[in-house]
Amino acid sequence: MINYTEKIPNNIDLGRDRVLQRALEHWQPAYLSWWYDMGPNESHSYEVYLRTAISVEPDGWAQFGYVKMPEYRWGIFLQPRDEKRQVNFGTHKGQPAWQEVPGEYRSILRRIIVTQGDTEPASVEQQKMLGLSCPSLYDLRNIFQVNVEEGRHLWAMVYLLHRYFGRDGREEAEALLARRSGDADNPRILGAFNEPTPDWLAFYMFTFFTDRDGKFQLCALAESGFDPLSRTCRFMLTEEAHHMFVGETGVGRIIQRTCEVMKENKVDDPSDMRALGVIDLQTIQRYLNFHYSVTLDLYGSDVSSNAANYFTSGLKGRFRETKLEDDHQLHDALYPVSEVVGGKIITKDVPALTALNERLRDDYIEEIRDGVGRWQRVIDQAGIPFRLTLPHKGFHRAIGNFAGHFISPDGEVLTAEGWKKHESKWLPSPEDHAFVQSLMCGRVAEPGKFANWIAPPLRGINNQPLNFEYVRFN
Ligand SMILES: [Fe+2]
Ligand SMILES: [Fe+2]
Repeated sequence: MINYTEKIPNNIDLGRDRVLQRALEHWQPAYLSWWYDMGPNESHSYEVYLRTAISVEPDGWAQFGYVKMPEYRWGIFLQPRDEKRQVNFGTHKGQPAWQEVPGEYRSILRRIIVTQGDTEPASVEQQKMLGLSCPSLYDLRNIFQVNVEEGRHLWAMVYLLHRYFGRDGREEAEALLARRSGDADNPRILGAFNEPTPDWLAFYMFTFFTDRDGKFQLCALAESGFDPLSRTCRFMLTEEAHHMFVGETGVGRIIQRTCEVMKENKVDDPSDMRALGVIDLQTIQRYLNFHYSVTLDLYGSDVSSNAANYFTSGLKGRFRETKLEDDHQLHDALYPVSEVVGGKIITKDVPALTALNERLRDDYIEEIRDGVGRWQRVIDQAGIPFRLTLPHKGFHRAIGNFAGHFISPDGEVLTAEGWKKHESKWLPSPEDHAFVQSLMCGRVAEPGKFANWIAPPLRGINNQPLNFEYVRFN
């Protein structure tokens, strides 16, 4: 028997919802066995200084303390309900927001929730081995925090499936625990979530680029006319912010350390930097190119009738939908999309309703650009003449109008052979991966110590000092 208020912090009155309790009684043990199997390797007896969400109040939800991860209190939280909330876009604009699933949209809504839910355990699986090569206890604690919160995000989506979708919801919830990232027979749904995350540079890139895709998808779903989905996503977004912080500062600290070593030793050749045990800026650029391009694919086809349907039916809005000033129905609006015609990239206007994936991708790119600009400042402040750049949107794409084309980072359309010749300059090569992994062959586990290839952060977690014992190994 589960003691609901103790074991599963929630603000959904779980103690009184028998149907949901029964569903969770089956699902929770399966979830835990998934965690033992696919959660961070060898971590089950560690005590980790984690924050746990115990309420949705702005000052009360983050409770810090030592927790063994299998005993983490994965909870179910929705932002409080606004009784006056309406459907804010699409053909149902102006109707009261739906508190139950509209019958006609049941299957697409379930698909949207399952697709989002699937990414959450996938990233835990992708990051499973990284604890063994952490650069510090601070970083180890951070990856574990991200992992338990992705676990909670899975709970959030499973709550919706159990509560609103009956038997098929329960089946989908089980399938979410059965798929495996990168598995040949039963992979995760989306491409980027089947890519390995083999080292810490990849992890920070992933949390910067791919968790931010998570943010934009959650923002679009937070606009949903299906109110429980909206309220669930709003609370998830508060956690997502920390994941992106881990990514941005992680890459920033690697760049900072490389720049320090370059200055101290007056070197700028990648092989010299590598000999000094730091990651050359060129390799960092290649990782950036990879993670950016595979994440852009997550937004889907540039022109998409599914995206139009999701919007028209009021299920998935645009980024900051209610702040936008237009008809929120997109009757006559146009939006520019690019395609490759006769060896050239051209831009043309299409009905905005069909270009909603592209629009969300563009909103994302804008925010990415700012983050990369902040990394650039670290390089500039060190006085090093190196520019980090975002590759062209069409670079290394597998989905949408650029798929099947060979676009250089500068946006030049190349032949397959022309592209191949440069590939190892643009994307991480097996040698790059081998080098990065050679730096990360063991864990740095002494409080206050950091691996040579990364600078310490500016401050600790929850005002703790940098030499705090963020993880106790037991
Ligand atoms: Fe998440
Ligand atoms: Fe995340």
